[in-house]
Amino acid sequence: MPVPGPGYSITVRLEAPPSASAAGDLTTAVGKVGGVLTAFDVVESHADAIVIDITANVASADHAEDITTALDALPGVHVRKVSDRTFLMHLGGKLEVSPKVALRNRDDLSRAYTPGVARVCQAIAANPDDARRLTIKRNTVAVVTDGSAVLGLGNIGPSAALPVMEGKAALFKKFAGVDAWPVCLDTQDTDEIIAIVRALAPVYAGINLEDIAAPRCFEIEARLREQLDIPVFHDDQHGTAIVVVAALRNALRVVGKPIEKCRIVVSGVGAAGSAIIRLLLRKAPADIVAVDIDGIVHSGREGMDPNLHWVAENTNKDGMTGSLHDALVGSDVFIGVSAPNILGAEHVATMAEDPIVFALANPDPEIDPLEAQKHAAVVATGRSDYPNQINNVLAFPGVFRGLLDAQAHHIDDDMLIAAANAIADVVDDRLNASFIVPSVFDAAVAPAVAEAVKSAARKEEVASTS
Ligand SMILES: NC(=O)c1ccc[n+]([C@@H]2O[C@H](COP(=O)([O-])OP(=O)(O)OC[C@H]3O[C@@H](n4cnc5c(N)ncnc54)[C@H](O)[C@@H]3O)[C@@H](O)[C@H]2O)c1
Repeated sequence: MPVPGPGYSITVRLEAPPSASAAGDLTTAVGKVGGVLTAFDVVESHADAIVIDITANVASADHAEDITTALDALPGVHVRKVSDRTFLMHLGGKLEVSPKVALRNRDDLSRAYTPGVARVCQAIAANPDDARRLTIKRNTVAVVTDGSAVLGLGNIGPSAALPVMEGKAALFKKFAGVDAWPVCLDTQDTDEIIAIVRALAPVYAGINLEDIAAPRCFEIEARLREQLDIPVFHDDQHGTAIVVVAALRNALRVVGKPIEKCRIVVSGVGAAGSAIIRLLLRKAPADIVAVDIDGIVHSGREGMDPNLHWVAENTNKDGMTGSLHDALVGSDVFIGVSAPNILGAEHVATMAEDPIVFALANPDPEIDPLEAQKHAAVVATGRSDYPNQINNVLAFPGVFRGLLDAQAHHIDDDMLIAAANAIADVVDDRLNASFIVPSVFDAAVAPAVAEAVKSAARKEEVASTS
């Protein structure tokens, strides 16, 4: 059942009698039907009436309707208009392009554009690397999607994906000063996506793939990495993996267990789960057991794609078979990136002592966090209304800032691990069971991640040229 939150917020403009009790009557009416009042503004005042904007967080469209009806039913109250504040925020989009140079006169024009610009073009033609010095390439990232796996909404296509990509670009700028631009492609053909991204790459110093469905996302990323001389990073895979590895490092500190002694169950072997498994293997856990909709992944299983084959070959040392619930018995860590409500407290009770539960399916986790807490020592979710939110915003802005600053030509697991360690380190001595990752608004995170990634990238460039 959804709860009122700022993601769905309405402003109701209404007329009310100018009585002393009007404010109390209106706020009580909102509260009685479960709305969370966040603002009360008198916008006009007359001798016989006042006009008020009431802003409230609601749970759903029906709930918004209940609130409006309750207000309209009060004696002398007339609702004029209801605005959805989320839609208002999206009117005309969330991004714009603004020039960095003044164009005040003919003189400015001659240098920013023709004829002066021609010499800059010639310099780049003579030395293509100068594009990073003399153009927007230096600081620009493409946020590329085919709209096939957008949030939890599924295959809604490129136009419907655009608000998410705009939001992503806004976050890049806000948290790391990166100029990112949405590139929503009207094709879901792997070869075509690769050809298009390859063709538009000259403008960008990095490609952030976003909301492209598995297993297509694996091939697209791998082939683009081979073909391009700029880093290609699928955030749903690696952004998630970085934050999970950071959070797990700190969660294990809370319970005092070394990862080398832990058996980790990963539920979901799609985009997020596969990347989490690959990065976790770098940390040498005692074992990882992967589970998907068809049960435990093991080498004898039939009908597996190349991704599942790889997972089967690199996990599940004891050749376990069976269900998620079988895998969980005696395990130290559960990481869910799969489906809502597939576990109960009774399943967590079968895990080893002081279990760690990361239930990250969004918006509804694999287990209700309150149920998980009955037996788990540390619980994390993907949600902002519980402690320990695993949020990719902790990773991708700093990762790209570091890559751009290093003028990196590729990205690899060492850089991802460096980013994870940097996020975990920001928590420092504030660590406890409810604080294993920093807040997404912690201003220390992006610079720390950027510095760690930049230094890992520079080390690699030096190693590859020496
Ligand atoms: N930061 C975060 O919190 C975060 C980040 C990434 C993904 N997620 C969430 O993780 C989930 C998966 O995302 P994805 O992009 O990897 O999706 P995906 O479609 O690529 O993969 C889903 C995987 O879950 C498995 N699965 C489905 N139902 C299952 C069940 N009942 N039991 C076990 N496995 C099951 C599928 O077989 C598949 O392997 C989504 O809910 C997503 O919102 C959260």
